[in-house]
Amino acid sequence: MIYEKIVRPLLFKCDPEKIHEVVRFFGEHLGWVFSYLNSKAHHPCKLQLLNLKLKHPFGLAAGFDKNGEMIPFLEFLGFSFVEVGSVTNKAWSGNPRPRIFRIPQDEAIINRMGLNNRGAKAVVENLKRHRNFIPIGVSIAKTPDPSIRSAKAIEDISSTLRAVAPHCDYVALNLSCPNTCEKIWDYDDQWFAEFFQEISLCNRPWKRPLFLKISTDMPESDFERISKWPLGGLIIANTTTSRDNLSTPLTRLDEIGKGGLSGRPLLQRSTKLITAARTIFGTNFPIIASGGIDSPETAAAKFTAGANVVQIYTGLIYKGPSIVKKLSRSSFDRDIL
Ligand SMILES: Cc1cc2nc3c(=O)[nH]c(=O)nc-3n(C[C@H](O)[C@H](O)[C@H](O)COP(=O)(O)O)c2cc1C
Repeated sequence: MIYEKIVRPLLFKCDPEKIHEVVRFFGEHLGWVFSYLNSKAHHPCKLQLLNLKLKHPFGLAAGFDKNGEMIPFLEFLGFSFVEVGSVTNKAWSGNPRPRIFRIPQDEAIINRMGLNNRGAKAVVENLKRHRNFIPIGVSIAKTPDPSIRSAKAIEDISSTLRAVAPHCDYVALNLSCPNTCEKIWDYDDQWFAEFFQEISLCNRPWKRPLFLKISTDMPESDFERISKWPLGGLIIANTTTSRDNLSTPLTRLDEIGKGGLSGRPLLQRSTKLITAARTIFGTNFPIIASGGIDSPETAAAKFTAGANVVQIYTGLIYKGPSIVKKLSRSSFDRDIL
């Protein structure tokens, strides 16, 4: 309540990326304090998803801690797992600013960050720095350099996998970023066959579960194609480029321009995709839900559709850090585990 009534109106007066940088600065530089506090806390693991032992089913989605700089802080907030990234092989500055926009009428965000990150090598150094008590995933993507294409794209993503796999518990393949000029999803079946052959080879020494993150805009018919790939699970789903059914005036949306929309408006469409995936992949296939979760009710919709665990991002911005504890308590009340 205090966050929504007092803190949020103040924060929302400032540039979203500036606020994020301030949070990142404190999260990173006070990391050792949070590490110490986390080491004193005791949270029994109640849920297992593949190799991931979780204290509850609520994690942080990719994009908040792109470089793995805030993990002890995020663990302190109560997340049961954190997905770092998306990380690319080469450091990448992303798109010009401004590139994050809040649209409060829809409890949503539009971002066109464009995969800004410090590159796999720097992220690995951050991952090595702290002892974590929760599982860490790393989301990897192709360096958005348009000259890296076809076979070079496979080499680029594989290099990132080789770098991060020894230092994380699962790897998420982000092939669904709407904010870069290339659309990997449009590559042909031959490319995907070679890609997964190479990725599986690089992952062999580490055996990290490979999760594929799909777009909210992906047609359900694409699940047939995905079902042939050697995946450990799916993350459903990334942001959408659609602007349908929003309350924000069109003039404001035009002013903002391109980008991936996240938050409340994603809820229905991404939940429908989970239901479709469950039908095709069966009951034992791990599904991580992402998209529009900001309350115990919206999380419950994901579990009902067939998600095993959920991730939040935009809900954290709109509801504040207390949302994590509120969700984790609700999971115990509802006996989800
Ligand atoms: C500012 C911002 C940056 C993001 N960056 C990434 C990213 O780098 N990689 C990724 O896989 N998803 C990224 N996402 C998508 C989120 O991980 C999440 O899938 C999406 O926002 C839907 O969840 P939400 O409605 O809870 O925000 C980003 C989202 C936002 C708002």
